[in-house]
Amino acid sequence: MNSIPLCEPNLAGNEWTYVKESLDSNWLSGGSYLRAFEKSMCEYTGAVYAIGVSSGTSALHIALLVNKIEKNDLVIVPNLTFIATANAVTYVGAEPLLIDIDSKTWLLDLDVLDEFLTTQTYQKNNYCYYHKSKQRIKAIVLVHLLGNMPDMERLLSLTQRYNIELIEDAAGSLGSFYKGKHAGTFGSVGTFSFNSNKIITTAGGGMVITDDALIAQQVKHLITQAKTGTIEYLHDQIGYNYRLVNPLAAIGLAQMEYLNSFVTKKQKIAAYYTQELSTIPNLGFQTISPGVNSNFWHFVITVPNSRKLIQYLAEFKIETRPLWIPIQELPAFKNNVYISKNHTTAGVANKGIMLPCSTSITQEQLAFVVKKIKSFYL
Ligand SMILES: Cc1ncc(COP(=O)(O)O)c(C=O)c1O
Repeated sequence: MNSIPLCEPNLAGNEWTYVKESLDSNWLSGGSYLRAFEKSMCEYTGAVYAIGVSSGTSALHIALLVNKIEKNDLVIVPNLTFIATANAVTYVGAEPLLIDIDSKTWLLDLDVLDEFLTTQTYQKNNYCYYHKSKQRIKAIVLVHLLGNMPDMERLLSLTQRYNIELIEDAAGSLGSFYKGKHAGTFGSVGTFSFNSNKIITTAGGGMVITDDALIAQQVKHLITQAKTGTIEYLHDQIGYNYRLVNPLAAIGLAQMEYLNSFVTKKQKIAAYYTQELSTIPNLGFQTISPGVNSNFWHFVITVPNSRKLIQYLAEFKIETRPLWIPIQELPAFKNNVYISKNHTTAGVANKGIMLPCSTSITQEQLAFVVKKIKSFYL
């Protein structure tokens, strides 16, 4: 058996054709592929505006800027996520306030959030402040981890009651829906990543989606160096070079043509692993919230001795990865406020393993992974 990669890109469609056409057109920075890719993201997600950017991280940075998150503001972030979510908050001078995750869904724990907002914050001039530091809690960056989404009605009722802006980090959840509404369309802004391990890729890239015309205009302005003059180099504020370039958007457009089949394949992979591995004692899965149609971007199990299992599978050239280290355990964030009842993040992170889940994985490869996991435990 050849090696089985964790999650590799699947460039089986029109990628070469569209990239060649985009290069032949000589429109490299912007161009028709960028516009077509953005349009297809609007059509797929139902968002009114979609703006291509250079990465999921730059998408988050811009989302925070257009929501006017500033120095000393607090931004609620789940303690289990890829570090980019927390890093982006620091780019605007704000501080992530970390909240533990739910033991079943592995998403930001809404009970912990509710209790925190009720007991540890106060309202002044209709804004929400943290008692201890008197800092304003301006936003939540909600992460739809691994494709799962929380009870969005409950979350929205909390953000509305406390007047906290909702930004959705939907980096890995293109293709996930809550009661038919796409991830990233509930808050003021949603962000996506098209890094090479995502469900669709542009090699590197991202997207900002919003229904707000003013926000869309500000995003476009900020990602193009805040240039106001068409000829003169007039810039009315500090801007960024965060655009998605045309040849990469060409890859994205070709990938969008396969998105539905990629989601179906990811869901089949998840169903197979769940069925085959559920007989192993003490092995856990992420619970998908009611009403969610997950894209199962990554399939993760929790097991005792996770690091040993990773090593064991590597002997058979099966690539797996541990889950992310809790944000509050990382040096840059160890002094941040962390709200938790049971330290759930640490347990899930210690036990979590990402299993091979490329959309090109074969049934034979999946069966081999299952066989080797079973042989380790049973
Ligand atoms: C939850 C989350 N947020 C943000 C990012 C950052 O995206 P990018 O790597 O495109 O900058 C990722 C990437 O994996 C992610 O998983």
